[in-house]
Amino acid sequence: MATFHILLTPGDGIGPEVIEEATKVLAKVEGRFRHEFIYEEETIGGAALDKYGVALRPETVAKAKASRAVLFGAVGGPKWDNPQAQHRPEDAILGMRKQLGLFANLRPVKIYPAMIDQSSLKREVLEGTDMIVIRELTGGLYFGQPKKRWESATGRQSVDTLRYSEKEVERVLHVGFQLAQQRRKKLTSVDKANVLRTGQMWREIATEVSKQYPDVAVEHILVDAAAMYLLRRPTSFDVIVTENMFGDILTDEAAMLAGSMGMMPSASLGKRRKDGTGIGLYEPIHGSAPDIVGQKKANPLATILSAAMMLRLSLGLEEEAAVIESAVDGVINDGYRTPDIADATGHLVDTAKMGTLVAERI
Ligand code: IPM
Ligand code: MG
Repeated sequence: MATFHILLTPGDGIGPEVIEEATKVLAKVEGRFRHEFIYEEETIGGAALDKYGVALRPETVAKAKASRAVLFGAVGGPKWDNPQAQHRPEDAILGMRKQLGLFANLRPVKIYPAMIDQSSLKREVLEGTDMIVIRELTGGLYFGQPKKRWESATGRQSVDTLRYSEKEVERVLHVGFQLAQQRRKKLTSVDKANVLRTGQMWREIATEVSKQYPDVAVEHILVDAAAMYLLRRPTSFDVIVTENMFGDILTDEAAMLAGSMGMMPSASLGKRRKDGTGIGLYEPIHGSAPDIVGQKKANPLATILSAAMMLRLSLGLEEEAAVIESAVDGVINDGYRTPDIADATGHLVDTAKMGTLVAERI
């Protein structure tokens, strides 16, 4: 029997509700495949601000480093929304990414045929959409120095710095090309090379790295055009690689292709071992959704699908991951829907029921 240590960080808002359903499903995987998942749980985000005065404690980071993976809920909420505050719940996710060296954020966008009419785009445009966006996660505007606000004689000033090193750009592009090789062998590199120095360098490096992957077709597009093409020709994308801030924006847009954020998992990865596995942080991209906390309305599927990505990418359990994903497919095809994805014909279920329905299919 194989044992795996996993750190759970449910966080704020609906985070604890959806993590609960993911562990329900993982328990069935343990039984069926004779694995043992050993969990530790840590308080992060706003809850940790209240309890410890910081959103992410060094102890939590140390526990994460000692685990195979982190399954992350969500952080933030109106209670901690003061923009002037010194510490913010979001420090938890940004700190985890940086301190664990998780430089590549994978956000798959898959359209479920049974849910295609939920999207605001036309069926003809969407049909066949299947892409994965890789967002650089530890560089760029989010972390570049200087980053500060100050008072000057003419009023308030502020600066954020968009900085990238060659190594940072190269390594995330390699992740993209390797993934493209396992998929439909197309990579779209997104930059702003017509205006930004970082963008010029990004494009230059993408062109150089592409020479090592002659079997992958590369296209370079500007980020504004990418925002447009995501809506106009989503099926033309296979793997998209882009810098941190552009990736933040484009992945929310891409998530809407699928109709709801409630279905969108993500994986944040650092350096890989020889066997392809390595520590990772797995989280639904929907956030803490304070408006529906405690109402049993949260859709746990994004977190359950994130757990599947965790099994595949950090634990090396491909078959187990695929079993979870097909269980989710089954539940969706059978018409079960949480309120965020409800339609006229489906069966409306609450958070716990959705988790149970998936678990029962494992
Ligand atoms: C995301 C979120 C985070 C980000 C926030 C919560 C800091 O929007 O994961 O996309 O901006 O990276
Ligand atoms: Mg975002």
